[in-house]
Amino acid sequence: MIASVFSELLMRLLGIDIGTSGCKVLLLDETGSIVGQAVAEYPMSTPQPGWTEQNPEDWWHGVVECLRAIGFDEGGDCQVDAIGVTGQMHGSVFLDSAGEVIRPALLWNDQRTQSECQEIESKIGSERLKEITGNPALTGFQLPKILWLRNNEPENFLRLSKVLLPKDYIRYRLTGVFASEVSDASGTGCFDVPSRTWSTEILDRLALPLDLFPEVYESDEVTGTTNVVGFPMGVPVVGGGGDQAAAAVGTGAVSPGVISISLGTSGVVFTSIPNSEYDQSGAAHTFCHANRGYHAMGVMLSCGGAVRWYRDTFGAGRDYDEISASASTVAPGCEGLSFLPYLAGERCPHNDPSARAMFAGATLAHSLSHFDRALFEGVTFGLLDCFETLRKLGATSETIRVTSGGAKSDFWVQMIADCLGATCERLTVDEGPAFGAAILAGVGIGVWPNVREACSRVIRVSGSVVPSGTSYQKSYERFRTLYSTMKPWTDLG
Ligand code: XUL
Repeated sequence: MIASVFSELLMRLLGIDIGTSGCKVLLLDETGSIVGQAVAEYPMSTPQPGWTEQNPEDWWHGVVECLRAIGFDEGGDCQVDAIGVTGQMHGSVFLDSAGEVIRPALLWNDQRTQSECQEIESKIGSERLKEITGNPALTGFQLPKILWLRNNEPENFLRLSKVLLPKDYIRYRLTGVFASEVSDASGTGCFDVPSRTWSTEILDRLALPLDLFPEVYESDEVTGTTNVVGFPMGVPVVGGGGDQAAAAVGTGAVSPGVISISLGTSGVVFTSIPNSEYDQSGAAHTFCHANRGYHAMGVMLSCGGAVRWYRDTFGAGRDYDEISASASTVAPGCEGLSFLPYLAGERCPHNDPSARAMFAGATLAHSLSHFDRALFEGVTFGLLDCFETLRKLGATSETIRVTSGGAKSDFWVQMIADCLGATCERLTVDEGPAFGAAILAGVGIGVWPNVREACSRVIRVSGSVVPSGTSYQKSYERFRTLYSTMKPWTDLG
């Protein structure tokens, strides 16, 4: 009876995003309209410099709060036909044989695993590792975190029965099923990207059992159904994607030629690629895409995160609009003041956990507004580094779509268009990874035949920002020189 009533209604698809600062739940109908959403925040701890951790129970509480807020609970009146999950990538949720969390999860921007990365490179070999995973061993990835647990907390490692990625822990809480999907699994460091399966070669050489990891699906496949007391039962939960792949689905970056730039805590320049070819230099990641193809991306660790840190530390009570307005009073180039945004080390293009942030070149002539502008120029040059890395891999920039929090800033998007020398498009719906996860949920239950078709039906461009002709060439050169000049100093620790 209920099913027949619902079959006459538009399908409703729920996307759940486990972000770094909070979770977001978004309800989409099959016309592409957002019909409900809720957010909940949770804390992140930094027990030591370079370490970042979160309590997976906090994610779950956030999800429950959001589901209740939109009426998806027992007795609530919210129709949901399928759920897609997404979230921060690379993290490690360590579970014991009863499915209980053993210790706080290590996150994507945690840098404690440098010696474990060396261990991986030496046991697998750098070239072989890149052939299998499309990437070098990186501190943020999940595999070195598992080795860190073995090397540093042997009593916890002995209890270890499963390791899940953040969004897959939420899938487990929703369905009771241990499952992942190819786009997020690609960011573990032990996934065979060309063949879209766990690498037994890597696991064997590191003496880790395959059953430590969940079963892997394509991102648009149903992985289980809801099974939580107090919530509607039997709703299909689809693979979903790592936050970057899901955000790319949400911007329509599902075929080569459409580049998406995400201005979240991290900054990501993302493009679909025709096959699993990888960057020999190791600067960009090659991963499985959520559209059953492949993608490459350059990731900077502190993008919007650097802007937030600056506001909280030096903003003197000003909000983002006030800081941008102040920055816009200063000429491009900031009269020689530069900012390196490496607050958490950096991935693309340096892969250097010990890289550090800094302002350089200050004189008596520099005011707070110069620092405000240098901040934005520094993070934008970081994006340009990623963009140039992808360009060297053959990415074309016919269309750039900007998304996530920073995309709301006219000032910043104009600077990006000018620095990259390309037109930036904005979209009518800019709801990031949760939107993409909801689209994947729809593909999973057959609302659309495939991801590309889904994107062409629901994604619309709302406007574009064209380059103004302002040149940042000289300041970008200064930025590039600053990192190499300061490297011996940061290496001293
Ligand atoms: C991608 C990455 C970040 C996190 C957090 O490789 O590390 O984008 O997924 O958003």
